[in-house]
Amino acid sequence: MGLFEGFLENPGTPIPILLNLEFSSLMVRFAHFSDVHISNVPGTLLKMWWGKRLLGGANMLLVRRRHMLNANMPLLVEHVMQQNPDAVLITGDLSTTALNEEFAQARELLKPIHEAVPMVTIPGNHDIYTPGVQRERRYEKHFADFHGDSQEDSGYPFVRELGGGVVCVGLNSCVPTGITGAWGIVSDEQLSRLPEILDAHQEQFRIVLVHHFLEDKHGTPGLPHRGIRNRDDLLKILEQHGAELVLHGHEHACYQYTIPGKGNLIPVLNAGPATFQSEKPNKQAGYQLYDIEAGVLQRVVRFGLQPDQTWTERDITY
Ligand SMILES: [Fe+2]
Ligand SMILES: [Fe+2]
Repeated sequence: MGLFEGFLENPGTPIPILLNLEFSSLMVRFAHFSDVHISNVPGTLLKMWWGKRLLGGANMLLVRRRHMLNANMPLLVEHVMQQNPDAVLITGDLSTTALNEEFAQARELLKPIHEAVPMVTIPGNHDIYTPGVQRERRYEKHFADFHGDSQEDSGYPFVRELGGGVVCVGLNSCVPTGITGAWGIVSDEQLSRLPEILDAHQEQFRIVLVHHFLEDKHGTPGLPHRGIRNRDDLLKILEQHGAELVLHGHEHACYQYTIPGKGNLIPVLNAGPATFQSEKPNKQAGYQLYDIEAGVLQRVVRFGLQPDQTWTERDITY
């Protein structure tokens, strides 16, 4: 496994994922962003109690509120829609402390997207913040209609067809993790269903969505309190059954790497945080745009929102 650092110098070079399969010749363009972290400070202050929400609330108030700006979201949504995507994929952490108010606000801010094109979401660890939120299935109550093609299918993995031979497989790697944890795990039930799903769609361009990283930004499995605890089991399934692309978030930086697939290397991309205010290109708010044509990932472009509200654009290649 290797981490490809930075953005290479050869913009426009097609990413060489050549598949000897039949695909629609139509181009499919989709956008990916992650870690929106909509916050609701009054709501969090009102509902804080001793435990994880207190810690999350204090963390949000002291650090994130200065950097994770709800106000960046309309700018991002507008810019995304200017690219005329066929679909938009979001890999979790829509909220900061899983408040109903945060979910409702996130959904409202995303309305220009989901009223216009298919939108697919999966939960992040901040969306399943406490055991009560998980029991209540609060994230799913707000967002499960952006999962599978059937609204009844709110389980995981879910499958969402994007057209043009492209399909999304959504995993849930998130569980309540106690006061200091942010680790993930993909349930045995999901791991038992995943091979069959990947095999059933092997003639398509399969995009696997998962919130937690398979490698952190340093190219390692990550610290035990932040990574996927059964990462090796997931990697083994992806290697044996294949996928064409894996997208995630969780680490608040954009970077990319590859993992072994079934006869290929699978590109894995982290879109970084969608709303983070930063001068650093790999940390600042932004999203990525993917063009897939005839089963080939032709181009990935990173758009970054600078503190002066201008946008940068650069190609990502491998
Ligand atoms: Fe996050
Ligand atoms: Fe996260």
